[in-house]
Amino acid sequence: MKTKLVCFAGLMIFLASFAYAQLSGAVTSSYVCFSCHKDQAKDWATTWHSRSHIDSNPIYKAMINYISRVTYQPEESILVGCAQCHNPKMTIKEISGKDSFNLAKVLNVETEQTKRVEASVGDANIKDGISCNICHNVEKINESMNMEMRGFKAVEWGPNDVIFGPFEDDGRAGIHKSIQKEHFTNPDKLCMACHFGGETDNKNGVELYATGKEFLGSDDTNQRCADCHMSTKRKGIITPEITRPGIVAKEREIRSHLFEGARNSDILKDTIALNAKPEGNNIILELTNLTPHKAPTGFGGRSMDVKIEFKNGANVVNTQTYTLEIVYVDKKGKEMVPYIAASIKSDNRLAPNETRKLSIPKFPGATDVKVTVTYRLVSDRILKLINFSDAIFSKDYPVTSLDVKL
Ligand code: HEC
Ligand code: HEC
Ligand code: HEC
Ligand code: HEC
Ligand code: HEC
Repeated sequence: MKTKLVCFAGLMIFLASFAYAQLSGAVTSSYVCFSCHKDQAKDWATTWHSRSHIDSNPIYKAMINYISRVTYQPEESILVGCAQCHNPKMTIKEISGKDSFNLAKVLNVETEQTKRVEASVGDANIKDGISCNICHNVEKINESMNMEMRGFKAVEWGPNDVIFGPFEDDGRAGIHKSIQKEHFTNPDKLCMACHFGGETDNKNGVELYATGKEFLGSDDTNQRCADCHMSTKRKGIITPEITRPGIVAKEREIRSHLFEGARNSDILKDTIALNAKPEGNNIILELTNLTPHKAPTGFGGRSMDVKIEFKNGANVVNTQTYTLEIVYVDKKGKEMVPYIAASIKSDNRLAPNETRKLSIPKFPGATDVKVTVTYRLVSDRILKLINFSDAIFSKDYPVTSLDVKL
């Protein structure tokens, strides 16, 4: 432990002794940021932003493999398109001469192009996903309603020796210059560079990931993405270990870097307010979406189950399940993954801040009812379709529950 501390202190001095321009290499690998910004690094590592590369997210990999099989294209041809948001700094942005590339891959022939594409996909500098050097290198955001203009197409990267952030530079960091940007003082726009959806002029006209569009369409303007998904602001000193002669550390309003989701936080507990009361021969359920986007939102495989159990004493006598989800289908009406679907068959997710009333006939003889809401990252049907299983994606995450006497 002691040696580690000595090494760490040594690294800090070594890093702090660099001049501004020397950070340039660092901006391509976020490991350099970790040594000084431990809190941000620790939080960020728990989020799936850190796992958006094919080598670290098994369902992303399985999804690409599935699309590759059903569209008869090599995985790399699919992945390059997905990287627009999942790995926006991947050097290859588009595969030119797709037919010859695809043929070379099918015949397993190595060409200059296949080597270049493989090297680009496997580049160590992009494997840490949506990392420090993605968000904090964004100098400008080009807003657009067009769904194609997301990820790297929505942003302009700044110079390599500058960090963009929420504060004005006071020179204390030393190793990097920093410039204050509005998309950090109010980060909604930054989040929506990737989490937006938008107008569809893609091949099939099917919208994906419409969280930002849902949010802009809601009346709720009080809570911003960062308030719920990072944390409320608190007072703190950034990297208190760093001291520079003549420069005094400022106390600032900072947030955590959790990008809270179902897997790394208890954010789901703040999704739905549940109410239930008996009324004549029915039980009236009220589900209120507490978020300014749909519930569930985001990736098309997400769903929520509302399970209604009628009980007689301790015995469950009847169970009914109501699922909130979006269902994508192919041309023949068969369920399909969002990316290659022909249309949306149904979408009964709760709209932003919607209160939905369900009237359910009482089950004869029941004395009590238990209502349980749970969240799924990926439905069983999608998992089966892409032939993938992993408990993280198939388990039920608790949202809320309620017991009512009939
Ligand atoms: C998805 C985008 C995103 C990623 C990835 C990201 N940040 Fe940030 N960061 C932000 C936003 C937004 C803020 C401003 C938060 C606020 O004040 O509202 C911020 C603020 C900061 C601050 C100012 C202090 C604070 O915590 O508020 C530091 C330092 C920082 N980030 C470092 C890092 C480091 C180091 C990493 C990588 C481990 C990282 N960030 C990854 C978006 C990001
Ligand atoms: C040698 C230590 C060191 C390294 C390495 C370092 N930083 Fe910093 N950084 C600091 C210090 C110290 C501050 C605080 C400045 C202050 O409070 O005025 C800071 C401030 C920041 C801020 C807030 C500034 C603003 O304009 O809002 C962000 C964001 C940030 N760093 C991101 C990064 C990222 C991303 C990396 C990696 C590319 C990185 N830092 C590497 C020491 C470092
Ligand atoms: C450069 C594109 C990009 C930006 C900018 C971005 N995200 Fe993400 N975000 C993604 C991708 C891609 C994923 C999915 C990663 C995965 O699971 O492989 C994701 C996942 C998430 C998740 C689920 C995380 C989890 O651990 O399950 C949340 C919550 C989230 N983002 C919130 C935000 C917020 C809030 C901001 C703005 C501060 C933001 N994102 C900015 C691309 C982005
Ligand atoms: C009032 C708090 C609140 C605000 C504001 C909010 N969200 Fe959420 N968000 C939630 C909750 C609660 C969930 C979990 C339920 C769901 O999917 O709707 C969630 C889910 C998500 C997910 C899916 C998480 C996962 O685990 O896969 C993403 C992505 C996301 N939000 C992005 C955003 C973005 C981008 C914004 C701003 C445009 C935003 N949210 C604004 C509360 C909020
Ligand atoms: C417009 C930007 C964008 C593009 C392009 C994109 N994604 Fe995503 N992807 C996201 C965001 C944002 C999330 C996180 C949403 C959430 O958490 O609900 C995500 C999440 C996912 C998830 C769920 C990951 C998890 O950990 O639960 C899978 C699987 C996925 N994407 C596959 C793909 C595939 C395959 C492609 C290409 C065919 C692709 N994505 C293209 C933005 C994008």
